[in-house]
Amino acid sequence: MVRYGLIGRKLGHSFSKDHFTKVFAKAGLKDHRYDLFELGGIGELPALLQKYPDLHGLNVTIPYKEAVIPLLDGLDPLAAAVGAVNTIKIANGRCTGYNTDVAGFKALAEPIIGSLSDAGSSIKARALVLGSGGASRAVAYVLRELGVRFRIVSRSRERGDLTWDMIDPTIIRLCRLIVNTTPVGMHPQVDEAPPLPYAALSSKHTLVDLVYNPPETKFLMHGLEHGARTIGGMGMLLKQAEEAWHIWREDK
Ligand SMILES: NC(=O)c1ccc[n+]([C@@H]2O[C@H](COP(=O)([O-])OP(=O)(O)OC[C@H]3O[C@@H](n4cnc5c(N)ncnc54)[C@H](OP(=O)(O)O)[C@@H]3O)[C@@H](O)[C@H]2O)c1
Repeated sequence: MVRYGLIGRKLGHSFSKDHFTKVFAKAGLKDHRYDLFELGGIGELPALLQKYPDLHGLNVTIPYKEAVIPLLDGLDPLAAAVGAVNTIKIANGRCTGYNTDVAGFKALAEPIIGSLSDAGSSIKARALVLGSGGASRAVAYVLRELGVRFRIVSRSRERGDLTWDMIDPTIIRLCRLIVNTTPVGMHPQVDEAPPLPYAALSSKHTLVDLVYNPPETKFLMHGLEHGARTIGGMGMLLKQAEEAWHIWREDK
């Protein structure tokens, strides 16, 4: 058996098993399977690897993308620069960490950045990144690469530039791109949305939610109500999964 899987704390929301099972079937890979492994703590990873010696790769999700790093044997340079791992390749007894959220978010962000500034204006677009975890690090990396100034919103002063109580309508008006990298609004808490002064949104805003289940979150619905462009997390999910599969298939 050639086994792959996903590690995270709660995986009821995950589409990965279904996605990769279809990828394997399409490629005629009958001996491949993809499993969901809920870990109570990242310290359970070594026992999991021992229990399943046929594991060839893992995806990593909330809340272990940063915590997994000290347990790995090596890091791809991009994952090291981002400071978060969402894909692990297991080969020759070694676990190497990669980050494919960067490629996923870049595919989503690159085409929209130009349209965030007013035509002819020299004022560059600004962004607000909600949350400071693993996915936030990938988003921040891409925004830096694209030359977009941004602030991180966190529940703690230590991890972010702003705390939630500091977000007023002026900040919202200034930041035309708002990216939710928190799990707020994710299944089953579908009635929740990040606490923002949504009334300050306009048709000049773009709201991106990395949450993909449900496809239209409460956060995005608030955006639509105020004429903003909205983008859900499914496109990014598919792109980062495609990149992970590419890494696992590479012969190195
Ligand atoms: N579409 C995709 O391809 C894709 C890719 C990656 C992630 N995601 C989604 O993005 C979300 C985050 O994933 P992750 O791996 O980055 O998780 P993570 O490492 O646990 O980070 C989430 C961050 O959100 C903030 N947060 C958590 N609970 C919160 C709450 N109740 N209220 C406000 N802020 C809260 C925290 O930041 P502070 O401690 O600073 O407040 C936390 O560090 C998940 O829903 C995941 O499914 C989607």
